[in-house]
Amino acid sequence: MKVLKPKKAIYPGTFDPVTLGHIDIIKRATEIFDEVIVAVSNSSNKKTVFTIDERVKMIRWSVEDIKKTRVESFSGLLVDYISSKGAKIIIRGLRSSTDFDYEQMMAFTNKKLNNRVETIFLMSAGEYSFISSSLVREIASYGGKIDKFVPEATLSFIKKKFLNL
Ligand code: COA
Repeated sequence: MKVLKPKKAIYPGTFDPVTLGHIDIIKRATEIFDEVIVAVSNSSNKKTVFTIDERVKMIRWSVEDIKKTRVESFSGLLVDYISSKGAKIIIRGLRSSTDFDYEQMMAFTNKKLNNRVETIFLMSAGEYSFISSSLVREIASYGGKIDKFVPEATLSFIKKKFLNL
């Protein structure tokens, strides 16, 4: 009898900060895979407002009730991290056609770097298709309301960061 291995998927990103759009993708991915590892990039190429520890913490608070998730940080190449986890599936969300070219380039590059790796795209839910982390950062920096864009568990933390409340 063939023993089926648990299907593990990696959902990578910068998450500066995590948004309701990201959470929607994580929830839906857990309905397809046995385990979803949210992999927070600690790349020095992208300047972030939140530190790596803060970004990981905010996602952990937000996925507390979502079973089958784990949150980790990684540095270096995504394909190397994926191999180290014994996984081969990357999950990415597609919000609109504007995401497509960038995502296609990343999927092709990762495939070239490691032929075993497959990228699977989930279409963002319509209500989240306009949300981005930079939009959240901009609104928060002017003291605007961000409760419709980010998980409740992160709200006070984000406000504090921008407004020193
Ligand atoms: N809901 C809301 N926002 C979403 C989203 C969704 N479903 N999907 C993407 N976004 C937004 C983010 O909010 C972010 O917005 P911003 O640009 O306004 O800040 C933007 O899309 C992209 O962010 P994110 O999803 O966090 O991904 P990223 O493009 O920053 O992450 C990595 C890219 C980390 C996966 C990639 O750089 C990587 O793999 N790095 C490791 C090094 C490597 O292997 N490089 C070669 C890769 S080809």
